This record gives sequence, C-alpha cells and structure tokens, in this order.
Amino acid sequence: MSDANYKLNQNTDSFVMNNNIDTFFETNNELISMENVSLVYDKKSATVPAIDNININIYPGEFVCVMGPSGCGKSTLLNILAGFITPTGGSVKLNQKEIKGIDSNRGVVFQQPPLFEWFSVRKNIAFGPKMKKVSKDKIATDVETLLDQVGLKAFADKKVYELSGGMKQRAAIASALINNPDILLMDEPFGALDALTREQMQGLTRNIWWKTGKTIFFITHDVDEALLLGTRVLVMSKHPGRVIADIPVDFTKSYVEENSDDVRYTDRFHQKRNHILSLINGQ
Ligand SMILES: Nc1ncnc2c1ncn2[C@@H]1O[C@H](COP(=O)(O)OP(=O)(O)OP(=O)(O)O)[C@@H](O)[C@H]1O
Ligand SMILES: [Mg+2]
Repeated sequence: MSDANYKLNQNTDSFVMNNNIDTFFETNNELISMENVSLVYDKKSATVPAIDNININIYPGEFVCVMGPSGCGKSTLLNILAGFITPTGGSVKLNQKEIKGIDSNRGVVFQQPPLFEWFSVRKNIAFGPKMKKVSKDKIATDVETLLDQVGLKAFADKKVYELSGGMKQRAAIASALINNPDILLMDEPFGALDALTREQMQGLTRNIWWKTGKTIFFITHDVDEALLLGTRVLVMSKHPGRVIADIPVDFTKSYVEENSDDVRYTDRFHQKRNHILSLINGQ
C-alpha cells in the first residue's frame, strides 16, 4: 500500500470534503487511467507530436507531480485530463468513464488565475456552483468553509484586482475546490510567485491535500516543490513526451507529522533530488 493510501487509512475522520475515500475503500480502483495516450497537434505548416504512448494510472488520494523539460508535453497532458483537448490516440478514463470534454468533476488551477477582476473574492468562489444552480444556503456555507481553508476570510469582500498574486491564487484554488472535484489539476500554479509566497502556497496546498485527501495532478519545474508535495513524481522525456520515470516519494508525511522541514536536508532527499535532476538534465 502506498503512503498516500496509508494516509487515508489513518485520517478518515478528518476528510471534510473528500469524495474519493468511499471509492478507494470499496474498490481500490484507479481514479484516472491513461492507456497509450498520444496527441499530435495538427498545424497547417506541420504536425507536432506532443505526447506519445502515455500509460499511467492515478489512484484516489495521490499527489502526482509531473516534471520534464520545457515543451515536453506536460500542459498538453493536463489539458487532456481537463477535457480541453481530445487525445489523437489512446484512452483516458476518470472513474472508468472516458473523459469527454470539460466537467466540474475536474478542477483546474493555472499560473494565471482566471478570476473575474471586478467581482469580490466571495462572488468569484461562488460563481461555479451558482451557474449550476446549487442552493444559496449550500453555496454560502461552502464559500465560508473554503475562505477559511485558503486563509482569505478577512479578504472575502475585496475585489480581485485589490489582491496580491498569492491571494489571487488562494481564491483560484477555492474556486476550483468548491465544485468538490474528483481531481485537482494544477499547471505550474506558483511559477509566477515570489519565493516566500510560493513557500506559503506550497504549505497551503499540502495542508489542503492532507486534510481533504483530494487527488492532485501538479506540474512543476521545481524539483524541491515536487519532492516536498508529491507522493509520486513522474518525469517526462523531451519531445514527444513520454513518461520515463515514475518515482514514489514520501517526504510530505514527515513534513506534516513533524511540522518541520528537516527532511529536505537528509541524504535521502538529496539522492532523490539528484536522481530526478539527472533524468531531466541528461536528456
Ligand atoms: N496549440 C498548439 N498547437 C501546436 N503545437 C502546440 C500547441 N500547444 C503546444 N504545442 C507544442 O506541443 C509541445 C508540448 O507543449 P506543452 O505546452 O504541452 O509543453 P510543456 O511541457 O507544458 O512546456 P512548458 O514546460 O514550457 O510549459 C511543444 O512542442 C509545443 O510547442
Ligand atoms: Mg506547460
């Protein structure tokens, strides 16, 4: 049993929003299954094979970090999972059903948060469920829970343009979580933030994952970020992107349980770090 699954066993009563745990205990089925997935962009001038023959299963509660050289197809893979684009080959399933188009059961967080600048934080977070005609009472309760969870309670009535980059990203995470998605897809979400804010956002993401058991698919260029958040790091090859390594990691557990970052100074951490960097830089 992986560490992510071990965590689920240990913390069952603290999963306030988790909708995966029943699936996990009843079936232990994969949440996402990708079989021979490929995508060729068809441009007028040329065809671009972006990803090729990807075979990955993702299980409920996993925190999967994806790394690889620029242009290797990480965002393409995430966009396929989100349903923004359809693969040209292979099959991608969520809970055994083929992914066909966009659905709120997948929440997406990008580097630039797609928020309505002139709406308040509260109104932005409430937007998705309001469009789905969820009851006003439920929306109000969920918005308050999420404002608390992402640390924006004091800023709920501020307009988005009044927020810092980190706060905007907190609002974007809450907007994605309010739909209670099966999986959160994050594409370099903290790439544009300063180092200190980035570290705070990593802590926030780690806590949300730990408390909710949400499955997360997270693209990053930062190996420390991947090691300090993930339960698994996928390394992709350059052009066309294939998965060349699938590395289990378990540093998050000591980070949370010991409330200390000492683990990043261990030999074990440095070995994993060097291994991943040599896979990426050696291409
Ligand atoms: N809409 C598109 N049309 C044509 N080619 C595209 C399109 N989007 C991406 N590509 C190409 O597909 C390949 C993979 O791009 P993708 O954006 O998925 O890479 P990435 O790993 O996310 O890169 P980065 O780390 O720079 O974000 C690249 O060669 C890119 O130029
Ligand atoms: Mg990208």
